[in-house]
Amino acid sequence: MADNLICGLDIGSSKIATVVGVRSEETGELKVIGFNTTVARGIRRGLIVDIKEVSAVVEESIEKAERMAGHKINGAYVSVGGPHISSLNSHGIVAVSNPQGEVTEEDVERVIEAARAISLSSTRKIIEVIPRDYIVDGQPGIKSPVGMSGVRLEVETHVITASSINLKNIERVLDDLGIENKGFVFSGLASAEAVLTGTEKELGVVLVDIGGGKIDLTIYVEGALSYSSSIPIGARHITNDIAVGLRVSLDSAEKIKLFLSKNLSSKKKNPQINLHELQLEENINEVSLKTLVDGIIAPRLEEIFKFVFEEIEKSGFGQQVPSGLVISGGGALTVGMLETGKRVVGLPIRIGIPDKVTGLVDETADPQYASTIGLLLYGLDHDSIDSGSGGFKNFGKVLKDIKLGGILNKIKDFFKQFIN
Ligand SMILES: Nc1ncnc2c1ncn2[C@@H]1O[C@H](COP(=O)(O)OP(=O)(O)OP(=O)(O)O)[C@@H](O)[C@H]1O
Ligand SMILES: [Mg+2]
Repeated sequence: MADNLICGLDIGSSKIATVVGVRSEETGELKVIGFNTTVARGIRRGLIVDIKEVSAVVEESIEKAERMAGHKINGAYVSVGGPHISSLNSHGIVAVSNPQGEVTEEDVERVIEAARAISLSSTRKIIEVIPRDYIVDGQPGIKSPVGMSGVRLEVETHVITASSINLKNIERVLDDLGIENKGFVFSGLASAEAVLTGTEKELGVVLVDIGGGKIDLTIYVEGALSYSSSIPIGARHITNDIAVGLRVSLDSAEKIKLFLSKNLSSKKKNPQINLHELQLEENINEVSLKTLVDGIIAPRLEEIFKFVFEEIEKSGFGQQVPSGLVISGGGALTVGMLETGKRVVGLPIRIGIPDKVTGLVDETADPQYASTIGLLLYGLDHDSIDSGSGGFKNFGKVLKDIKLGGILNKIKDFFKQFIN
């Protein structure tokens, strides 16, 4: 795999998607050159329930993406999500090593390490530690403390943890295929990277990724990731409801659901929907719009948004998200999504499309690939430091979690003086 290639492996409940991107040396832009999506097997609500099945699908998806990209994939950033994800905000404090001088990168590293020291059961593992705010000698609101003078350095961090068993299972799948795991990324965080704007994050926003089997939630307040969680309900429940309500198979119900979101514009609302072109095995050619949308889909959407609302309340950040909700994931395109969301949650709402990349955009500019493309953007942020000369690689890894504005660039500048 060439140095400037980045790969993402998005293991979802409905699909496993592989994406290969190349970073332009000049512009830093990311171009997608390989992409594949394959129907998932062996995953339920983000959890691996059948390793063999998952391995087979991952292998297939990776091979197809490799062929398209014309490059071998040796390593990938991998999404993890589901109700086994939890988060907390943790505080770290250290004495600045040279009280006469300035806060150094090493002090920053130590304070983040201190914030990582949370009591954690042996069945859980930290997958992310993101600094939210630094405090130097009691003064908060500092985004980049390096170079400031002070004696006491504190940090507020956001820590995301996941079930170790699930991580181990994913590791096994990757090991068997000879793929290096470049890092586990919470799928909600990946989606946020792909669809949120800087302004939304600054003002306060909730990213809601409605996948097939789960809903990932990430909340940004004052530019910082402040809450992450995952709710065990997804767009597949809507398909189930249609199957039960219309007495059709799950396959037919899925076809009807996708047909609706493609063909039902809010302007032309015929009381009967013509399903003739779907050629359903049950021979249903017509269905009442009212039965389907108001009777079956809307109540489930309402339930989904009640859960989302409760989760926002639980986070304690409900009053700090004026940018409202940004919806991604395949479920985002469900008919009636925006109206119901706005009514139930009472916040502004928009659909998030992952459009921060170039290349194969016809394939990837769809809300269901927000987390997939987000893995590349996450990788772009984190790989930049690894691509320095060999000796600095490990240092790059140590600093992998340090993400607050400008720090990465400062570290790069710091190293450049030795390289040049
Ligand atoms: N155009 C559409 N309209 C309505 N629903 C859609 C549309 N496209 C996809 N979906 C639904 O989105 C779901 C899949 O979403 P997505 O690909 O984001 O899930 P996933 O990432 O595989 O799963 P998860 O994140 O829950 O593990 C399916 O239930 C599918 O029916
Ligand atoms: Mg997903």
